[in-house]
Amino acid sequence: MTRRTADALKFSRSERDAVYRAIFERRDVRRNFLPRAISEPVMMRLLTAAHHAGSVGFMQPWDFVVIRNAATKRAVKQLFVEANTEAARRYTGLKGDLYRRLKLEGIEEAPINLCVTCSRRRGGADVLGRSTVRATDLYSTCCAVQNLWLAARAEGIGVGWVSILDHHALKRVVGVPKSVTILAYLCLGYVSKFETAPDLEMAGWRDRIPVNQLIHYDAWGSHAYEEERDEHENHEGVHQNGRRGKDKTRRRPTGVEGQSSSRSLRHRR
Ligand SMILES: Cc1cc2nc3c(=O)[nH]c(=O)nc-3n(C[C@H](O)[C@H](O)[C@H](O)COP(=O)(O)O)c2cc1C
Repeated sequence: MTRRTADALKFSRSERDAVYRAIFERRDVRRNFLPRAISEPVMMRLLTAAHHAGSVGFMQPWDFVVIRNAATKRAVKQLFVEANTEAARRYTGLKGDLYRRLKLEGIEEAPINLCVTCSRRRGGADVLGRSTVRATDLYSTCCAVQNLWLAARAEGIGVGWVSILDHHALKRVVGVPKSVTILAYLCLGYVSKFETAPDLEMAGWRDRIPVNQLIHYDAWGSHAYEEERDEHENHEGVHQNGRRGKDKTRRRPTGVEGQSSSRSLRHRR
């Protein structure tokens, strides 16, 4: 690569900042949807962004079902109500009360619902790179969702992922063939605001884990890092939510799986 080409390919500071802004200000959105329609060109930009995700063996296993029909949304909402009633039974006491207060979908409020699928047989029996980890086609489809989620944030469009649905029943409602896997059901629309922190964090359900607790050096369990690393700008630390990236934990061999929502609940009472 010539020097000139390398310079031409470089992101300007504002371009770089815009990418990080989309990442840090992306939110899972289930409320504050506006009735404003998403135009066809904008929708195509989002879907094309999704389609440009990486995929194992360049398999591109995704399809997108764009749902505007009110009756379909109503049927999906009904599936959510059933699945959520079942899910709520898992939580009792304070946690149960909090769970029942959470808003976990925006199916009927959002102008567009999007069902993202993964065709696990696309590309034939021998997909390059998938011989050891079969699920890489599912991972690829998740990458497509994340691309769309970030592009939507840049467009001022909120996206909410609804996973509390029986996917077998959902397939029947949306007409997805049995051989195809539903990966995500998303609610999309322009919103009046994006929150600055996850809804679940604001509700006291669970806190963001300090990133340093999740970084291991050379082998699992070693969180020790050199002094200089402390002094370097941490991208999480510099974005506007200044609480993040501040942790200075040095060794935490047991990992962070133990964090429970009850800890958050206690913390906030
Ligand atoms: C695979 C996946 C499934 C999710 N399912 C739901 C869901 O069913 N309902 C919901 O309210 N949020 C759902 N979420 C959103 C998460 O709760 C949210 O991403 C998390 O709390 C962090 O908030 P943020 O996305 O605003 O940063 C899901 C997110 C992912 C990635």
